[in-house]
Amino acid sequence: MKNQMILICCLLGALILGLASCEGDQGPIGPVGPVGPNGPMGELGTQHCMECHGSSQLITAKMYQYEHSVHATGGNNNHNATNCAICHTSQGFLERIATGAVVTAAPINDPLPQNCYTCHQIHRTYSEADWGFTQTQPVTLWVGGQTLDFGKANLCISCHQSRTYTPALLNPSTASNSDTVNITNARYGPHHGPQGVMLPGLNGYEVAGPLPYENSAHTALLANNIKNACIVCHMGAAQAAESGGHTFRVISELDVINTAACVECHPVANDVKALVVDRQGQIDARLAELKALLVARGRLDPVTDLAKPGKFVGHEAGALFNYKFVSEDKSRGVHNFKYANALLVNSIAALQ
Ligand code: HEC
Ligand code: HEC
Ligand code: HEC
Ligand code: HEC
Ligand code: HEC
Ligand code: HEC
Repeated sequence: MKNQMILICCLLGALILGLASCEGDQGPIGPVGPVGPNGPMGELGTQHCMECHGSSQLITAKMYQYEHSVHATGGNNNHNATNCAICHTSQGFLERIATGAVVTAAPINDPLPQNCYTCHQIHRTYSEADWGFTQTQPVTLWVGGQTLDFGKANLCISCHQSRTYTPALLNPSTASNSDTVNITNARYGPHHGPQGVMLPGLNGYEVAGPLPYENSAHTALLANNIKNACIVCHMGAAQAAESGGHTFRVISELDVINTAACVECHPVANDVKALVVDRQGQIDARLAELKALLVARGRLDPVTDLAKPGKFVGHEAGALFNYKFVSEDKSRGVHNFKYANALLVNSIAALQ
């Protein structure tokens, strides 16, 4: 490359000299001007590009998996109001991590879904260090206020946590039928991604009932910074673009569990598959039972699965909240079976 440049310079030089000599009486060429400043990347930057943009297919492989993830395909990056863009757009997320605010200053132009730049520090130093994460700090939950340190998964729970909601729930140990919660928004509840709250077993409506509020083994073993929580199960060894790695999927679209992500603790693949089927079956049945009770009381729309605004008495608002919390967690009990199950069983008892 360098040799070619010298060659081109020599040829150009000869041409200019040749032309100059034809013109006759021009003076000799002046002194060489000062060297211009280096571009913003400098020499160091250009050298390090190859760490990522070499021929290893590293970016291509992660890109391939990512393109099959719901982060890329879900289409919900169109939720661009200032209080939605903080989780639903890449630029809005980076803005709120920088400002600490819970809204963006304005809707985002060209809103992008979660992508390489959302989670990694791409092109900040132009070296391999840029695989570092954009958000590594422990997360103080917006609802409940507890601070969680999930290691690498602090990134995930910055978005996969409960959204704020009003009005507040009643105190489950004192609520009586003369107390009401006036729900005006049909979307009342923790919103669609409360996984970061379910795994550690927090902030459900803990009404007393037949079951104690305990956590499953996953809470102690995975909801901490040693095991990186979410990442262990959702980013296990990639199975092409079906599950694992940057697909962020545990179970493929064809319903196959990536047992490579479980093997360290569940050595027999068929056993863990059976465990999932059993626990998900139990949670599905209890969700259906609680839904029927809420619908019968006119508190839940059976078609949209949203709240029917109005004055909820006693434990009704809490039971609705628990129904939304467990169903929106979407693991159907895998994240924290004991906690999810107790919320449902006790809510059912409270409404009967
Ligand atoms: C930490 C790894 C890493 C390093 C080092 C790196 N890049 Fe990138 N680069 C990426 C990733 C990841 C993307 C995004 C890929 C995509 O979205 O298609 C990207 C995208 C690009 C693009 C596509 C346009 C864009 O901006 O999205 C260009 C051009 C580029 N890089 C040039 C460079 C140059 C030049 C250097 C060195 C000065 C460099 N990169 C260093 C990881 C890196
Ligand atoms: C910037 C916010 C943000 C971050 C950071 C984030 N997510 Fe997400 N995640 C979302 C949003 C929003 C969706 C829904 C995307 C859509 O439907 O368009 C989603 C979707 C998902 C889905 C698919 C959900 C479904 O219904 O199929 C999984 C699984 C997931 N995220 C896991 C993770 C994991 C694991 C991490 C950490 C490595 C993470 N997410 C980091 C916001 C985020
Ligand atoms: C705390 C971060 C956060 C905020 C703030 C937030 N969302 Fe979400 N939202 C998520 C996550 C995470 C998901 C994906 C959950 C999943 O699929 O498991 C999601 C999913 C959704 C979905 C898809 C639901 C589905 O089942 O496909 C819609 C619609 C949505 N959000 C609308 C909104 C709107 C509108 C706002 C603003 C009023 C908003 N969200 C604010 C995190 C957030
Ligand atoms: C939602 C957040 C998220 C997004 C989006 C994301 N990554 Fe990652 N990435 C992670 C996490 C978390 C890890 C660590 C996984 C682990 O430890 O097993 C990681 C690891 C990596 C690694 C390994 C880094 C190392 O130090 O060896 C590479 C390379 C990588 N990602 C590239 C990409 C590229 C390229 C894109 C865009 C196509 C991308 N990532 C998008 C969260 C994300
Ligand atoms: C013990 C392994 C495990 C851990 C840890 C874990 N998940 Fe999951 N997660 C699952 C399984 C299994 C499902 C159910 C997948 C299904 O039924 O399609 C699931 C479902 C989900 C879903 C619904 C979309 C989907 O892929 O089906 C999201 C979003 C999600 N988890 C996010 C998270 C987040 C965020 C964390 C960290 C707070 C986390 N998970 C921790 C195993 C795990
Ligand atoms: C860090 C260790 C660890 C990992 C990783 C792990 N598990 Fe577990 N899991 C356990 C332990 C310990 C138990 C409790 C003992 C038992 O029931 O086998 C358990 C229990 C369960 C249960 C029953 C929950 C209950 O309380 O009844 C399910 C379902 C489950 N695991 C699914 C999974 C799936 C699916 C994966 C992989 C995607 C996974 N686990 C990954 C440690 C782990």
